[in-house]
Formats: sequence, C-alpha cells, structure tokens
Amino acid sequence: MRNASEDTITDAVLARLADAPSPRVRAVSEALVRHLHAFLREVRPTQAEWAEGIAFLTRTGQTCTDTRQEFILLSDTLGASMLVDAINHPLPGGATETTVLGPFYVEGPPEHALGDDISGGRPGEPLIVEGTVRRPDGTPAVGAWVDTWHSDAEGFYDVQLGDEVPELNLRARFRTDEQGRFWFRSIVPAFYPIPHDGPVGAMLEAQGRHPYRPAHVHFMIGAAGCETLVTHVFLAGDPYLESDVVFGVKDGLVRALERQERGTTPGGHPADIPCALLRYDFALAPERETTR
Ligand SMILES: [Fe+2]
Repeated sequence: MRNASEDTITDAVLARLADAPSPRVRAVSEALVRHLHAFLREVRPTQAEWAEGIAFLTRTGQTCTDTRQEFILLSDTLGASMLVDAINHPLPGGATETTVLGPFYVEGPPEHALGDDISGGRPGEPLIVEGTVRRPDGTPAVGAWVDTWHSDAEGFYDVQLGDEVPELNLRARFRTDEQGRFWFRSIVPAFYPIPHDGPVGAMLEAQGRHPYRPAHVHFMIGAAGCETLVTHVFLAGDPYLESDVVFGVKDGLVRALERQERGTTPGGHPADIPCALLRYDFALAPERETTR
C-alpha cells in the first residue's frame, strides 16, 4: 500500500490486521485504529500538539514507580476505570456495589488479627470498623480475606510518605471469623487530593478540575466460589462526594460515622475508649464464568 491519504489510511491499517492469529487481538486492534483515527479527524492536531500528546504519555510512564501508578490515575480521572468497572459489574442483584481499585493498593498487605489497631500510632480520631461478609446465598463467608487500606487524618497514604513512616500501616489483611465478621481499629481517614504534582495533575489543572477524593476506606474481599469484591465505603457528609475526581461514589457505598462510647459495639466488640464507628455489611457476588 502506497500513497496513504486521509481518506485511505484507516482502511489500509485495518487491512493489515486481517491475519492476527487471535480474533480478540484483531477486534481490539481494529477498534483502537478506528477510534484513534476518528479522534484525530475530529481534533485535527497540529504536529506540535501531537508531539505534546506523545510527550504527555511519555511523562505519564516515566512518573510511574513501585508506589506511584500514574497511568491508573490517568484512567481514573478520565472515567475509564469506572467505565470498565461498570462494564464488568452489571447491576449487582443484592451484591455490594463495586468501585475503582485506585493507585494505592499494595499486594500482600500485612496480615493482622481481628481487632488489631492498624494505625501504627499515627495521629487521628480513633475509629472502629466492623462488619460482616456474606456469600451469594446469604450465609456468612467464613475465612474470607478482607484487605483494607485508607488515608491518614491528613489525607496521605503510607506509601506516599516514604521514610516518614517506617512500615506499612493503615492497611491490612484480615480473615473473617466463623460468623463472617471482621473488625479492626484505626483512625478516621480524610478526603485527599490524588497525587497532582505529575502529568495527570497538570492535565486536571488545564481542564479546570480539582484533584480531590471524598474520605473513604478501601476494601478488597475474596472468598472461594465468589467474585473478588473491590470497593470503598465513603464517609457521609464529605464535601467531595458529589465531585470525586475519579467518579467512584455510589449511594449504596456511603455510610455515616456513628459515635461509639466506651463499652461494646453493636457488633459485639470492645471499645475501650470513645471513638468513631464505621459499620458495613458486604455481600459477595457469585464467581462468574470467564467469557473469553
Ligand atoms: Fe483511596
């Protein structure tokens, strides 16, 4: 193929994909080419603008480290993460709603016993988090793994603070008890800006957007025979619930902090000091067949 023009280049590239061994790779590649070319025909970038677009993606990749994932931030802030989530998790039918993973999950979080304080001594309002995990048939999910992570009272995750915090904290893995219950102690998280000192922050500024997420506690919960649940519980009353920069808020995931006096929590756990209480009962969806 020679003499490519604006009128012929798209068909020429599509024809070149015809022999892809995988039908899925071929379909994805064809859609990418069609939509990319349509984007360029609509935007009609100058050469300088196209070079800046490539430079932006280059900076995005170069900003990524073991503890900072700029491409997830880009996906999140463009709504792509929530769109993929919506495509893969249609109406839950009784199961807890899902939301974005976000960039601050750390594989293999520290294992803790139920009731442990995961704050690592960080300052903040004391908090007890308690709840249950149920299987799709409504029975308790016994021995389910419950990963949780959240920001500190200033809105920072441990991995953002480097040497200021010696070990991972405000994150943990628990196992539910014989009644499907979990509980732990921590501190109340704050709303926070996503990291905005890199290319995604510059993009948000250019788009006239703030970088904030409403306060929340992350959960990733798994049990045999169940779909792994990735979600957050958001704190009611937060000023950014309506304008979460990553579009992650769902009504069913918002809970008000309760006031717990010294004594026993509604879940039957000891509260040795007055504190805030966050309660949430999770319901897992059945494991799905892989369609591809
Ligand atoms: Fe978060």
